[in-house]
Amino acid sequence: MESGVESSDFNIPVPHATLRIVLTPPRESDGAAVIRGLNDPKVYMNLNGPPYPYTERDRDEWYTKVSREWKQNCAELNAIREREQASPSAGEIGTPSDWSQRPWLGGHWTSPIRHIEESETGIIEKFIGDIGVERESFLYIVDAEEKERRKAENDKLEAGDPNISWEIGFWLIPEYQGRGIMPAALQKLMAEIIIPHMNAHTVVGTHFEHNLASRKVFEKCGFSFETLVPNAVTINPAKIGGVEGQKVGVGVLKWQRNFAD
Ligand SMILES: CC(C)(COP(=O)(O)OP(=O)(O)OC[C@H]1O[C@@H](n2cnc3c(N)ncnc32)[C@H](O)[C@@H]1OP(=O)(O)O)[C@@H](O)C(=O)NCCC(=O)NCCS
Repeated sequence: MESGVESSDFNIPVPHATLRIVLTPPRESDGAAVIRGLNDPKVYMNLNGPPYPYTERDRDEWYTKVSREWKQNCAELNAIREREQASPSAGEIGTPSDWSQRPWLGGHWTSPIRHIEESETGIIEKFIGDIGVERESFLYIVDAEEKERRKAENDKLEAGDPNISWEIGFWLIPEYQGRGIMPAALQKLMAEIIIPHMNAHTVVGTHFEHNLASRKVFEKCGFSFETLVPNAVTINPAKIGGVEGQKVGVGVLKWQRNFAD
């Protein structure tokens, strides 16, 4: 499709005072950097989702999944653009009655974060981390049946339904932490994708109790602290020298669409 979105050409520039940062589609060539990052304790001690140790096989499975999802996202974005071109005034979002009349992104979106550097040999688009949004996992709900029930209910809502609860996930390689990159990346993803193309009205961010940097990112992006659930998650024993049953608390922050937005 001539004017359509192809996964290879979809980039979102992220404003930053000193670095050229961009969100792009996943690339197979990022494998080694992703594996190195997710096996670093400054990253994996703060994440619940990815397996640890993170192997080449884990990365291959993840890449197969996300590249399939990117094709779907691009098809959905093309449908959105065609609809907007056909009737530009009908694209208004947010009113509870009109959402089912137009296409939306409905599933998982993940973007690598890249630092664009110029070198003698040309431009390098270095992988420095990942940011994504998906239907909420209800990580902080301790009762397994209740968690499953809430997740199933949320998963079956149609794309664009303002009742969907979305959840953010993100990480940066250690050399790029503490430089204000993630607040800028999250703000941009919210403004360019999550609000206009997912019709998000509720977005949740969770963090391990000790991870105040993560909490600050959410707060800088307009999320409000909701609760801290003590001992909500069991830490993968492989991360802590084989110790079984060690738990960590989970903080929950929430962003809610203000109808004036
Ligand atoms: C959490 C994370 C995404 C924050 O992104 P970031 O771009 O580093 O965020 P910022 O630079 O705005 O830092 C946020 C705050 O935390 C502090 N901070 C960030 N990284 C830190 C670190 N490694 N050690 C101590 N403080 C840190 C910053 O000083 C800043 O505080 P300030 O607002 O008072 O200046 C990033 O540090 C990271 O990837 N950490 C490992 C993985 C992770 O925790 N993922 C989130 C899981 S919920």
